[in-house]
Order: sequence, then structure tokens, then C-alpha cells
Amino acid sequence: MFENEQKVFEEKIHAFCEQNDIPLGELKWLPIPFSGEWGTSTSFFAIAAAEAKAGKSIGKPVPVRAQEIAEQVKESLGDLPGISHIEAVKGYINLFFSTSQVAARVVDSALEAGVRFGAGQPKNERVMVEFAQPNTHHSFHIGHYRNTILGESLARIVQFAGFETIRASYPGDIGLGVITVLWAYEKFYKGQEPRDIHERGQWLLKIYAEASNLLAEKENETPEEKAQREAYDAERREMYRKWDAGDLYVRTLWLETREWSLEELRDILAMMDVRIDTWFYESEVDEPSKKIVDELIARGIATDERANGGPVIVKIDEKLGLEKERYRTAVILRSDGTSLYLTKDLALAEQKFDELHVDRSIYVVDNRQSLHFQQAFKILELWGFKQAEKCFHLAYGFVSLPEGAMSSRKGRVVLFKEVYDEAIQRVLDVIAEKNPNLPENERVDVAKKVGLGALAYSMLSVDNNKDMIFEINDALSFDGRTGPYIQNAYVRATSILRKAGVDVAKLPPATYDYELTVHEIELIEQMSRLAGVVQQAASEYRPLVVATYVYELANAFHSFYHAVPVLQTESNAVKQARLRLVAAARQVLANAMYLVGINPVEVM
Ligand code: ARG
Repeated sequence: MFENEQKVFEEKIHAFCEQNDIPLGELKWLPIPFSGEWGTSTSFFAIAAAEAKAGKSIGKPVPVRAQEIAEQVKESLGDLPGISHIEAVKGYINLFFSTSQVAARVVDSALEAGVRFGAGQPKNERVMVEFAQPNTHHSFHIGHYRNTILGESLARIVQFAGFETIRASYPGDIGLGVITVLWAYEKFYKGQEPRDIHERGQWLLKIYAEASNLLAEKENETPEEKAQREAYDAERREMYRKWDAGDLYVRTLWLETREWSLEELRDILAMMDVRIDTWFYESEVDEPSKKIVDELIARGIATDERANGGPVIVKIDEKLGLEKERYRTAVILRSDGTSLYLTKDLALAEQKFDELHVDRSIYVVDNRQSLHFQQAFKILELWGFKQAEKCFHLAYGFVSLPEGAMSSRKGRVVLFKEVYDEAIQRVLDVIAEKNPNLPENERVDVAKKVGLGALAYSMLSVDNNKDMIFEINDALSFDGRTGPYIQNAYVRATSILRKAGVDVAKLPPATYDYELTVHEIELIEQMSRLAGVVQQAASEYRPLVVATYVYELANAFHSFYHAVPVLQTESNAVKQARLRLVAAARQVLANAMYLVGINPVEVM
């Protein structure tokens, strides 16, 4: 926040050291932990040590000499504009800024920069965030929602931090699971299908569960049962073979049913305000991935065991020269010549970098696939693909239910759409009770925003590394650290401004030279942190950093709201200054909320 000032101090310190023949290296500035006033600090230890080393020591221990320099520098700086006081302690110089000037600066720049307040400078790097990539022929459950909100939040953060950002999806539209559904659908259900796009996924899932059961080996099977099961399995395999060979009937059936899932996915993404820039499909990288396998064999990286009825494998550890088992051996082509999930990720990476020219690629995928991605990235590296080191797996913990893991095969999942509908209904109930005057036509819009905000925040406020047990009552709670608590800060700010009845943009800038309350100072401190928080979250790939921040900001606003009069203030100058502060805080809240998928509402 104080880069410009620091530069000015630095020049002065340099001039002083030059005059006094003190060897000055680079100065490192650290913010002084905020304690009611803002400050920055730098140490003279390194300089004192360098002096001693250069034989210029004047016979004093380094700490004593560092303190001496600090005191001399303090003397030489004299009075500086915007600085309230300077301290020289323990070899450090501490500069404290004039609180009113900092306050004015933060408020003015928030109002001036508006939606860009807190945004980073353009970074000249293109980053792809891949997320929202469920398998098709399947419902969209609450685990997929965690993936999607995490990916979208990360994409917003990375973009706001200054990176050119591409959002990519990669639905798993082919594989044995998909074929299993297709086989059972064709055999037992063809021609029947639910109308509602949100019922089809669940219906296909039910078919999948039934099919899995038919195909599973049972205890005490009779010979007839065994024969039946094996016949079913042969049919399924035959269907996969036909798909692979491009059989028109199977392909048409597959495309029709695939479209059901994609339709639902698009609808859910629209509900969440997620706009995907690029769609990849597993089926589309199938062919190119087989070419990579050929190359890997030709170059001696992969071992082809097909002549002996085996698969094509890469002994990753051996090829990397590792003694201990780490990445293991991976199969990249089945003995029947079909590719695997891993194979396709090789071709996908190539497309991302070579066709879309991204500089970095982040994969948002749950942590059960960690080994998968380590293997994929290492095989890419062995293949000589330079950008392998620019691939990052952002893993997150698995979502399970209080009764245990979700299981598609057992048909035990919590659908996102059900939770979404329930969320809206609960908010509508609260509105009916607490805000009955809210016009009918506004209610649904507010309920959607509040319901979704609650869900988003309940996901993002948990560290992505942690597994999560999804409990609907917790996720939709309005108390404590929740989306609605944050939205309510925005509502309160809006209501103050509405009651004031003035156009804040037309109020003259304020000087904030009255006695600021701790609540105002704390609020301003929180507002000033946004830019740093965004850069940190973007470089650590951690939406949680913003989620924690936006709560603290909202909290600071609520405290201010309870303790500090705005409209009832006697002095007109103070009232105007506080109105500007409220408008600025409202803007910063909106910017931070956007990054974690919470839409602001004006009333609730
Ligand atoms: N469709 C996969 C699944 O549901 C996730 C795809 C992740 N992305 C990737 N490049 N492998 O498990």
C-alpha cells in the first residue's frame, strides 16, 4: 500500500548513507503489524554487518552500530509529509503514517477505482483453470458443486489478480462407466425418458446402479445366474468395441444421451454464473492420445507388451532413475488397444498448451486423483513436453454425507439441484417471516442470491485440502460465518446510503482529520488489504484466503454499523466523510464477494 512513500524514504536514506560513507545494500520494508495506526519499517542490521565485514567497523558490535545508524537516519529524515512520527528502535527505523491521510487515500481510491479496486496489474501470462468437468450420463451432485465453485472462485481470483484467464471444462463423456449406462438404457429403457432436464441425470444414475448390480459377481451364484451375468458383460464389451469403431447406431445413442447431461450441466453453470470459454471432451482426445502412445513406444519410454497379450506401460520410476517407488508403473493402453483416462490426459495437456497457447494450466480435481496427475505430468516430462512443469493439480477434499460416502453405483448422492431448490425455499420462508413487505417479484431474485451465496460460502470457507461432510442445515445456515452474514453487511451499507438520499459521488473528498473511532480505522485497514489478499490467494491457489478475508471485512463493517453513527452525526463534515466511507466499504465488499461467488443484494 505504501510503495511510493517507501521509494521516497529510500532515496533519502541512500543520500544519507552516501554522504557518510556507509555501504548501503537493498532495503527491505515490512509493514508494522497494525495497531491502530499504519506504519512501515526497515532494519539496518545488514548494513552494520556489511560495514564490519568491509573492515570499516568502528569497533562496535553490530546491533549497537545498527541502532546508531537508525538514530542517525531518523535525525536526517526530519519531518516528512504524511508521516506522523518516526522511531529508531533496536536497529530498526519505524515510520508511522498520518492516519487521516491514509484513511482519505483508501476511501478515495476505492471510490475512484470502483469494481477494479484491489485488482492487480496485467501480468502478461495466460492461465487456464480447468474445472466443472463431471462425467456425463450421470447426475450433478454436491461433490461436483464443490469442484465448480472452487474452480470458478479460483478463476475469478486469478483473473482479478491480473492474469489472462481461460476457463475450461473437460466432461468425461466416454469410458466403461458411460458405456455401462448406455448398454442398460438401450436394453431396458429405450424410448422412455424424463422430460425435466434435471431429472434425466438422476434417472441415468439409477440405470447405472441397476446395471452395476446386474454385472456384479454375487455370492452363491447359480450357474444360470453366472451365465446371464457373463452374457450381459459380453454385450457391454461389444458395445464399447462398436463405439470405438465409430458404429453409427451406438454413436448416435451415445450423443443423444450425452446431450442430456450436457444440457443439465450448462443449466447449472448458468445458475451459478459460470461461463466456460473452452470445452474439451474426453472422447475428442481419444485418437490423439493413441498417437502419443505410439511416439512413447518408438522413443523407448513406453514398453509395449501387446505381443504377449499385455498392455502398453510406462515404468515411470525406472525411467526417472528413482530407486524408491513413487510414481509407479502406469498402463497407457489396454491390450485391446483402447486408451485410458491417463492416456487422454497426455493429449489434453498438449492441446491446452499448443492450441490455446496457455502459459500455465491448473486442474481442479479432487484429491483421489493426485497420483493420476503426478503420473500424467511425469510421463509428459519424460516425453520431453517442456510445459509439464507448468501443470498444477489443485486437489480438494472429497465431499461425503453424514451417512457415508456418496456412491453413484448405490444411487446414494445428494443432487445439487435439490439443495439449490431447498436453499431458495428456506430463504423465501425467512423473508415471509422477517421482511413481509418485500414485493413478491423481488423475493425470488433475492432468495436465489442469498441461497446460492450461503452454499458457495459454506464450500469455500473450508480449506480445500480438507474432506467435507455435507450437512444441509449447516450449509444453509444464516448465522455466524456465512454468506448471508456477509451479504447483510452490503445490505446495511446500501440502506444507509439510501436513507442519506445524497449522491455520494458528488460529495467532496473528505480529509478524515476528525477523531476517527477504532471501528472506522479497523474498517479502513480491512479495506486496504484486498489487493494483497488477492495476490496471495492467486499465487497459492487458495480461495479460502479471500473467503476468510471477506468475512473479516464484513465483520468490521457490522461493528462499525453498530457503534458509529453516520446519519445522526452532528457535524456535517464528519457525516459526509462517513458516508463516503460507507460507500467505499460497500464497493470493497462487492469486489471481494464476487471473488467467492456471493452476489450482493440490496435488501434481504
Ligand atoms: N471427469 C473426471 C471425473 O469426473 C474429471 C476430469 C478431470 N480432468 C482431467 N484433466 N483429468 O473424475
